[in-house]
Amino acid sequence: MTTTCIEVATDPAYPVYIGPAALDALVPNRAQGVALLADERVWDLYGDLVPTLADLPRLLVPGGEGAKTIARLEEALDFCTQADLSRASTLVTFGGGTIGDLGGLCASLFKRGMAVVHAPTTLLAQVDASVGGKTAINLRGGKNLAGTFHQPSAVYCDTRTLASLPAEESASGLGEVVKTALLGGEDSLARLEERAGDLLAGDPEALATTVAEMVAIKAQIVASDPTERGPRRALNLGHTFAHAIEHAAGYGRVPHGVAVAAGLGLALRASRESGLLGDPALPGRVDALLHLLGLPGGLRDLRERQGLALEPRALRAGLAHDKKGAVARPEFVLLRAVGEPQLGLTLDAALLDSLLAE
Ligand code: GLY
Repeated sequence: MTTTCIEVATDPAYPVYIGPAALDALVPNRAQGVALLADERVWDLYGDLVPTLADLPRLLVPGGEGAKTIARLEEALDFCTQADLSRASTLVTFGGGTIGDLGGLCASLFKRGMAVVHAPTTLLAQVDASVGGKTAINLRGGKNLAGTFHQPSAVYCDTRTLASLPAEESASGLGEVVKTALLGGEDSLARLEERAGDLLAGDPEALATTVAEMVAIKAQIVASDPTERGPRRALNLGHTFAHAIEHAAGYGRVPHGVAVAAGLGLALRASRESGLLGDPALPGRVDALLHLLGLPGGLRDLRERQGLALEPRALRAGLAHDKKGAVARPEFVLLRAVGEPQLGLTLDAALLDSLLAE
């Protein structure tokens, strides 16, 4: 299996390398200073894959949402000062999406902005978070409330690091994979359906091919709208419901991609019930795919799996809290067909009530 390279055609453009040896190509230019920000657990597991980074100044931090705090950001910025980095230097991040979010934000702020290179090590980070330049930390008021757009100069998605992902982490990544395939079009969705069994079994070729296909779809969307003024909002398919679920459950109780999976099921039924969706069989088809991948296709499923109440009233409060929604009425991305999203839609109150009560 070779390494695939996909270009994200932002200004400037950057490469995303994907495959089971992608990290072999990560040889940072040391002339202007380079430092490493890594998830401590992931560095223990996979640091050997990148001997070229072994002697760099290194800051190891715990992964997960705990990485995305003001205190960690300050620690990362202080580390860059101690490592004597300049605006011409590069910060390499090594870990899941939370490490990329923290490192990307740190790089965008340090001395008014230096380069960042991401080496994402989870499926969620490889197919979604590492591409597109979103950076963020969480504030007391909610997730991702402080952030920037700061495109990386390169991304290295080495699929060897996916081998040890806990089942829950893999499932989380697969939720974003289904979302991206739904935006990519009929061929992407059909190929994902064919490959679902191999993906679940962790087949290296299926993983590498899927990551490459999803990155290609996301790259196109991001290049068309790097700062999310319009078409990029399609990537929020399923996310208005997902954020409501995460909020209602209490952050951290439902993995993001699992909430996205349930949110996709809801968004598809909303698309059909509101008369937008051309193919009434699509929700059932996507539900079957989500189940095949071990993901919930809606709220009933999710409640049973996670042992959560997820009361409609709590979900409605979560919808009101969603930062991407309108203040008065939440907005949704729905589908007219596979590959044809419709942005900025509100839902009839009775339809919303029936969806939340399913
Ligand atoms: N994760 C959605 C985006 O990058 O826009």
